[in-house]
Parts: sequence; C-alpha cells; structure tokens
Amino acid sequence: MCMRERMNYKFSYFLDGMKPSEIRELLKMASTKGLISLGGGMPNPKTFPSDVLKSIMNDLIETRSAQVFQYANTLGVQETLDILPGYLEKTQGIKCLPENVILNSGSQQGLYELGKVLANPGDTIITEEPTYVGAISAFSANGLKMEGIEMDSMGMKTELLEERIKQLMKEGRKPSFIYTIPTFQNPTGYTMPLERRKHLIEISRSYDIPLIEDNPYGELRYYGNHVPAMRSLKGGEDVLYLGTFSKVMTPGLRLGYTIAPTEVISKFNLMKQALDLATNTFSQYVAYEYIKRGAIYKQVALNIDMYRKKRDIMVNALESEFNDGSIWSKPEGGMFVWLTVSQNVDTKQMIGEAIKNGVAYISGQAFTTKGAQKRSMRLNFTYGDDDQLAEGIRRLRKTFVKQ
Ligand SMILES: Cc1ncc(COP(=O)(O)O)c(C=O)c1O
Repeated sequence: MCMRERMNYKFSYFLDGMKPSEIRELLKMASTKGLISLGGGMPNPKTFPSDVLKSIMNDLIETRSAQVFQYANTLGVQETLDILPGYLEKTQGIKCLPENVILNSGSQQGLYELGKVLANPGDTIITEEPTYVGAISAFSANGLKMEGIEMDSMGMKTELLEERIKQLMKEGRKPSFIYTIPTFQNPTGYTMPLERRKHLIEISRSYDIPLIEDNPYGELRYYGNHVPAMRSLKGGEDVLYLGTFSKVMTPGLRLGYTIAPTEVISKFNLMKQALDLATNTFSQYVAYEYIKRGAIYKQVALNIDMYRKKRDIMVNALESEFNDGSIWSKPEGGMFVWLTVSQNVDTKQMIGEAIKNGVAYISGQAFTTKGAQKRSMRLNFTYGDDDQLAEGIRRLRKTFVKQ
C-alpha cells in the first residue's frame, strides 16, 4: 500500500453553483487604505443600540442565566415565539400565532431550510432576476435550479412569471416555490405595488406553488406609503414569510424567523435539528426584551432618520455625477441603489479600475445565475459616512463616465 503525501479531497457537487463573495475576494487583493466601499450590505454600526443591549444583557445574565445560556427548543425560546406575532401585526399587519413561528440563525438559515424542506436537488425554483446573492448561495447549496424572472421598477413581472410557469410545467419542471423580496429589494431597491402582489398570490394559489416573501428591509421605509406584506393580504395566509433582527437590532446577534403554516413549521423543526439543534438562546432572549421594552420601535425610528439622509446623499450625488444617460433606482427604503451605467462595459471587469480610483461596489453579475446584468451594480448607502457616500459616487464617475 502506498501512502499519499496529501489527502485527495473530493468535494460535493452542491458546491458547483456557489460563488465566493466578489467583494471579499477583491478586498483581499486590493490595499484597502482610503477605499470607499459601497459594496457590502451592512447596516451602519452607529445604529447598533449598544446602551440598550448592554442593559438588557446585564439584566438577563443577573436574573436568568440558567435559561439564557441553556439550549433552547429547536423552534425557539417560548417568550420570543410568543412576542413576535404582536410585533408583526403592529409593523406589518401580519396575523399569526406563536406556533406559526420558527426562530433561525438569521433569515439566511431560513432560506437554506426552505431549499431543503420544500424542494429536492435538481428541482427548479423561481427567483427575481436579479436576486439576493445569499439566496443564490442557499439555493445552490441545495442543488436547486433557479429560473430568474425579469423585473421592472415594480418588481418581478408577474405576467412573465405566469408564462414561464406554464412553459416549465410543459417541460415537466413545475417550480417547487417562488422566492421574492417584494419590498426594497436586494439588490435593486425596487418595491412591488399592491396590485402586483395580489397577482403574485393569485398565481401562487392557482398553480399551487408556495410563495416565499423575504422581507428584511420592510421596517426601513423613508418615503412613500406602506405597501402591505403579501402575508398580510387576503389569500396570503399560506405565504411563507422571512423576517430578521439584522436591520432593526444587530446582524451580529444572528437572529431571524420564518412564519409558516404549522405543517410546514414542523418540517423546518425536523430539518433544523440536523442543522444546529437550536438558534442562539441568548440572542433570542435579548430580542424578546428588546421588543418587550419597546426599544425596537425607538431604534428603528432613529435608523430611518439616518438612512433617509444617506439615501438622499447618494441619489443626489448620482443625479449630479451621472447625467450621461445612466439610470439608477430611487428606493423608498432599504439599503441599496441599483445603478446601470450608460457605457457598454462589464462592471465585473471594471472593479479593478474602480478600486484603483478608491471605490468598490458589487457587480450586477453577482446577483444573477445567468451572467446577465453586466452594465449594472449594487451600491449600498447605509454603511458609509455621509461625506464618503458623495465622494464614492464621484470616484465611480471617474471610472464610468466618459470625461
Ligand atoms: C434579501 C435578504 N434576505 C436575507 C438576508 C439575510 O439576513 P440575515 O441572515 O442577517 O437575517 C439578507 C441580508 O442581507 C437579505 O438582503
């Protein structure tokens, strides 16, 4: 027997569709000094409610350490499961019961569970085109094939969706579910109006295809009127709804949730036992207290004030720097602007040039499984300081606008 010097690892085919994060890869290569990153999708650290969290955490450790450091039930800590329906009714008009809730390690874990529970490897699912890069990862990791439906400024084009479903069904590829981010979409910032939401629910019910509503940014509206969550609409009771504390508390505490009918929750429960047994107990108690003490409402109001200003700075800077026929979204909330430049360039290939000019973004191609969206990019306006946002856009202009 001949012993090899090194192990010859064979990796699973689930990894084939998974791409490394573009920005992380690039930053490894680039010297980051002075670089303005409009790339990451991070909340501004000034929105982290440190004082409130410190007092909540101290109280919890002093009074409930036996519980807060113990394993939790797989579905979640009962107090947190009990308090979420009231929060969701108040903020999103969603009516549900504690037994319709599962708490997860971020809504990202909820996405992964969906791919495991509602589909088999090789199955087809529907997403928006472009869509959230983490959803592409979660679905690829489950071996799912994604069919992206084109969007306009009102979100997924539901007329096209229906045609595509019919065609897929003819091919024997009925989609296992439809995934949408209807409010302040990542990456485009677009919001789907009420009529289209109703149409989407109608399609989901007529073809008996589960509808997934991912709403991490719903609480962050800066302009315009609230558009009801699909889960809150008549006929939307079976919509699976994903929410998160990442944008209204902190992403580092890794807490999200899925709202679903009890027969689906019981399957998530089974699957989560294999994934991590239970979500971080301490985070769940912190979130419970954060809602119970009302701190969440005060903090979200502050976040909205800060982010509205930052959104305006970015949109105004684009108006003054990119008046060359380029187009961009003007989001009413959330964290992103979607810029499509007028020049016929591939934004992925231009990243090196942009970094040389001191600015980073994520190219449109990161948000698609088709290699499309070549002239587009996602710009984040929540993380940077106000003056960095305007300067970042000036640097982008140097990269993309013919002088
Ligand atoms: C559309 C969407 N879904 C889900 C997530 C995951 O969020 P988390 O796992 O922090 O709850 C994000 C994060 O940016 C997102 O943009």
